[in-house]
Amino acid sequence: ESTRLWGGRFSDGPSEALAKLSASVHFDWRLAPYDIAGSRAHARVLHKAGLLTDDELTRMLGGLDSLEADVAAGTFTATIEDEDVHTALERGLLERLGPELGGKLRAGRSRNDQIATLGRMFLRDHARTIGGLLADLQEVLVEQAAANINVAMPGRTHLQHAQPVLLAHHLLAHVQAFARDAERLRDWDKRADESAYGSGALAGSSLGLDPEAVASDLGFSRSAANSIDGTASRDYVAEFAFVTAMLGVNLSRLSEEIIIWNTKEFSFVELDDAFSTGSSIMPQKKNPDIAELARGKSGRLIGNLSGLLATFKGLPLAYNRDLQEDKEPVFDSIDTLEVLLPAFIGMIATLRFHRERLEELAPAGFALATDIAEWLVKQGTPFRVAHEVAGACVKYCEPRGLELWDLTDEQFAEISPELKPEVRSVLTVLGSIGSRDGRGGTAPNRVAEQLDDARKGLD
Ligand code: ARG
Repeated sequence: ESTRLWGGRFSDGPSEALAKLSASVHFDWRLAPYDIAGSRAHARVLHKAGLLTDDELTRMLGGLDSLEADVAAGTFTATIEDEDVHTALERGLLERLGPELGGKLRAGRSRNDQIATLGRMFLRDHARTIGGLLADLQEVLVEQAAANINVAMPGRTHLQHAQPVLLAHHLLAHVQAFARDAERLRDWDKRADESAYGSGALAGSSLGLDPEAVASDLGFSRSAANSIDGTASRDYVAEFAFVTAMLGVNLSRLSEEIIIWNTKEFSFVELDDAFSTGSSIMPQKKNPDIAELARGKSGRLIGNLSGLLATFKGLPLAYNRDLQEDKEPVFDSIDTLEVLLPAFIGMIATLRFHRERLEELAPAGFALATDIAEWLVKQGTPFRVAHEVAGACVKYCEPRGLELWDLTDEQFAEISPELKPEVRSVLTVLGSIGSRDGRGGTAPNRVAEQLDDARKGLD
């Protein structure tokens, strides 16, 4: 006899081809513990509504406990005949309790409100796991910033030398982005914090169940305000996929920098052996594979988001079977990040920065030209003129193979009478960095402030 959850009005079972297409057990089985938790909560409200006796509730909960233990031990598993996780677990319950009692649990519940609730429970748990990893990532970046607090480096725009900055300032910029990703996860949770139990298939239940009681039993602070929305909405899935895709993009941007910094030409960093790989043919190679995989996997996270949005866009209310496609992409995003982040964190924690190299290049490419212009502004020169004069200094130096600080008093005077010898006071990397001391600037006191705030934020 079939354990399908439907069939009364059918004279024949589904074709093999349909059963194969329809099956989701191979990916939704991981929701089994959540489904069982949902069943427990549902059994309690059935009891509360007078639809299960005290004795029936006790035996029902006992059956669910035994099923849960067997699922955890791997002694009860779904088979290909089970359409989905819900069907498989009902079969397990019927095997344990018999059809009389086992057949009572489904009253007032549909797979539609079930799956909508389990999805939220599963994602909320993993949001916490990913949030914890994100905190670890910020922590190791903050520690690297602290360990390299006074190291200067070339700051770039358009990947060209722009102005010198502190390496710690640069690293803390990435911390800001990851802190926003963590904040987005927490904010997402406020909207996902809603149980769909009680919505039934779409219209709610006639059995006097208490959706609020199920919600709080399952760790939600509220139940769905609208049963149609409760079963049909999947923006919680798409939004979760966006937050993880954005995190992927932020990881990818940092990865790209590490890959560049790790080239012979840059030589800004050295990767730890445990967090880099070799080549099968070139014995000398040490490759930044973790950063490359992070960059590559960000594409996959973006793909998962795009796929979900495309799946949802044409769906009328309420539940449609298309919604079964909401799981694999977001499961993949979770699996991807939960494997990627620990490796990425290890790579960052063990990164060694080459101080001399970073500081040697910090002022290169006439990166102090803006300091000349701003010195002139402080002497009363309009910025348009100051910009012009500083540009003339660069123009003077470049063909002669000189740096700005090589210019003599006479050469400065020749370029412009406004360039007094005192201008030389701003032509040092530390002078330039120290002068940018407004809130958010790269001056050491401001970076120390950021470091403090970042640490407080992580506590
Ligand atoms: N496996 C389905 C899903 O993930 C569960 C809901 C099925 N509901 C239904 N009426 N066929 O969406």
